[in-house]
Amino acid sequence: MSQVEFLLNGEAISLTKVNPTETLLDFLRNRRGLSGTKEGCNEGDCGACTVMIEDPDGTRALNSCILLLPQLAGKSITTVEGLAAPNGTLHPVQDAMIEYHGSQCGFCTPGFVMSMATAHKNGATDYDDQLAGNLCRCTGYAPIIRAAKAAEDQPVPAHIKKPFILPEILAGDPGGSQPPGATTHFRPHTSDEFAAWYAANPDATLIAGATDVGLWVTKQLRDLPNVAFLNGIKDLQSIDIADNEIRIGAGVTIENLRPVMNEHFPSFGEMLRRFSSTQVRNAATIGGNIANGSPIGDSPPALIALNARLHLRKGDARRDIALEDFFITYGKQDRAPGEFVEAITIPKQPDCLRVYKLSKRFDQDISAVLGAIYIYGDGKTMTDVRIAFGGMAGTPQRATHVENALRGKPWTAETIEAACAEFSKDYTPMTDMRASADYRLEAAQNMLRRYMRDAMGQTVSVLEVTP
Ligand SMILES: Cc1cc2nc3c(=O)[nH]c(=O)nc-3n(C[C@H](O)[C@H](O)[C@H](O)COP(=O)(O)OP(=O)(O)OC[C@H]3O[C@@H](n4cnc5c(N)ncnc54)[C@H](O)[C@@H]3O)c2cc1C
Ligand code: FES
Ligand code: FES
Repeated sequence: MSQVEFLLNGEAISLTKVNPTETLLDFLRNRRGLSGTKEGCNEGDCGACTVMIEDPDGTRALNSCILLLPQLAGKSITTVEGLAAPNGTLHPVQDAMIEYHGSQCGFCTPGFVMSMATAHKNGATDYDDQLAGNLCRCTGYAPIIRAAKAAEDQPVPAHIKKPFILPEILAGDPGGSQPPGATTHFRPHTSDEFAAWYAANPDATLIAGATDVGLWVTKQLRDLPNVAFLNGIKDLQSIDIADNEIRIGAGVTIENLRPVMNEHFPSFGEMLRRFSSTQVRNAATIGGNIANGSPIGDSPPALIALNARLHLRKGDARRDIALEDFFITYGKQDRAPGEFVEAITIPKQPDCLRVYKLSKRFDQDISAVLGAIYIYGDGKTMTDVRIAFGGMAGTPQRATHVENALRGKPWTAETIEAACAEFSKDYTPMTDMRASADYRLEAAQNMLRRYMRDAMGQTVSVLEVTP
């Protein structure tokens, strides 16, 4: 047990006994009687549990069902109960939801208004993205979007606008040092502190954004006896852009990575727009997306196609490896006990990367197949070729036979067709609920054909088709 302090709807809360795997949603509903925040899926998919979280880095919408209490240390939480002004005046998005008939059964509504209020505060108006993580099954989205637009020009209410200043809370935050007797969770503030602790506690479970680990708790009902929360480690959260490389700290969230990829590798950035939802991207980290070793994690194939290197650290010892070598086989990665992902580096290079994500639903869906294709050439010959896929094997994996069929060859449709025939040598995909093996293989081949058309300047995205 260990101390956690935060603001809840403006009230300072200090918890001296914390079960580190208690979710914020359970805390709100069961211990504070704040039942306006709804439980729908309890796994980050529906957004019914959305709350507004603030800290000195900004204001974000997050799913409270997969946020664990220690992740909230030193932060300010606003729930739907705290959205109206203290005198009862509704928030502009609440008024607009009423005026534009944005609610019927109302179950999804608290989550929607929290996402809308967060977007409103941040001045974000890309509502298809801002609300992609909120599901509504009876009203339909048009009235909700109309409501969001109608509220756009209204000022942010004073009680929501107030800057985040919490010296009293931060002063009381025990930071990296555990209170006496606490053994159940560790909340370091620096990677040095964390590295030393993890080397001495190699059996501990690391929790960064908890968008995977949260589900171990809510769906698998797992006990996690010894855990470390990484979201307070600032020096793992920076992106450094040098002349020759981009270095991304393991704790960088997918949402913070997005603008950098939009600038340097726009197709990667566009794929990240479809990585889960705003709420999940606000918590999920790049380190977690790699370390979980998932064969369907979206960022590893793109990073492998960019020739990225993974930086690992154990205690004071550091090493770096090609990212593709990290994934040994399904469920097994090249990571020693007590060793953690510190950063990932992408060499600067011409932007020849295209990333194609295929999923049943456009937003907020796990990929059936994700293809990342990098082909550099002089217009006649393909010289530098790197292709990696997710969803085609037990790990994110390179298509070496396909690459060999392209490298040094002319840019022609014949070359592409010959390379397509090689996919079955690289991959033996499985059939599951997302796609059949045959479909996956054909989809992968079509992604290579799509790359060729893309490189020739043809329209290859349905989003770009105009009447
Ligand atoms: C609704 C929903 C939608 C999703 N959609 C997508 C999607 O579209 N694409 C996709 O790829 N994923 C998706 N995910 C999965 C998940 O969001 C990502 O894998 C995410 O990047 C995990 O990051 P995290 O920080 O939340 O990891 P956590 O859950 O905190 O940790 C994941 C694993 O990584 C380990 N870990 C974390 N950080 C480190 C580190 N620095 N060093 C070593 N080990 C570490 C943890 O111990 C754990 O084993 C989705 C999840 C949800 C709930
Ligand atoms: S309850 Fe569905 S996202 Fe949290
Ligand atoms: S109003 Fe019923 S689910 Fe949205």
